[in-house]
Amino acid sequence: MPITTCVFDAYGTLFDVAAAARQAATEPDFRQLQGTWSALAEHWRLKQLQYTWLRAVTDDHCDFWQVTQDGLDWALEKTGLDGDPALRERLLALYWQLQSYPEVPEMLRALKEGGLSTAILSNGSPDMLEGAVSSAGIEALLDDTLSVESVGVFKPDARVYDLVAKRFGCNTDEILFVSSNGWDAACAARYGFATVWVNRGADPVDRLPGQPANVLPDLTGIPGLADVT
Ligand code: LAC
Repeated sequence: MPITTCVFDAYGTLFDVAAAARQAATEPDFRQLQGTWSALAEHWRLKQLQYTWLRAVTDDHCDFWQVTQDGLDWALEKTGLDGDPALRERLLALYWQLQSYPEVPEMLRALKEGGLSTAILSNGSPDMLEGAVSSAGIEALLDDTLSVESVGVFKPDARVYDLVAKRFGCNTDEILFVSSNGWDAACAARYGFATVWVNRGADPVDRLPGQPANVLPDLTGIPGLADVT
């Protein structure tokens, strides 16, 4: 089946999740982050994701803003930075305006010019995603932003992936799902989507039942893969 619909994970795929800690480290008030921002960002991201998986398994859903705060609190304590409420507040504020990766607008424009539908499918809550999409200025290049909040469970629960075919009225194999999270790309492949794993960090492939059909170093190759350029 030809690809008709390109769907993107948000955090880590379109939006750079390390940008909040990296930006705060450049600000005079938060010099203590200069040597530690990348460890903080990594712990923050990993805990945030672990909490989504655990809450999905134990049926204790909360929204992504809650796990984002909980993950940050764990990471701040782990890195010895938990004594500064202004730092916590600043990092959380920056999370609402994460930069998109530089190739994102042009890549989405090429997909739209090729007649494809485009959307986000994310764990993010609708208000967080609206903030990120509008601060990246890409609203006009997306047909929709689908949030897990409409099904009340996090990825990789199949009810989340089901949202795409329902919204666009297409078959699963017409959907190209793009994620920089190896586990998300693997689970989406097992679900039945055509998949791309955007492997910016040259990481090893996840040992999971599904395997992403395509691996790219960034998003510039997506229009070529979706065959619209
Ligand atoms: C998301 C997380 C997984 O946007 O990055 O869904």
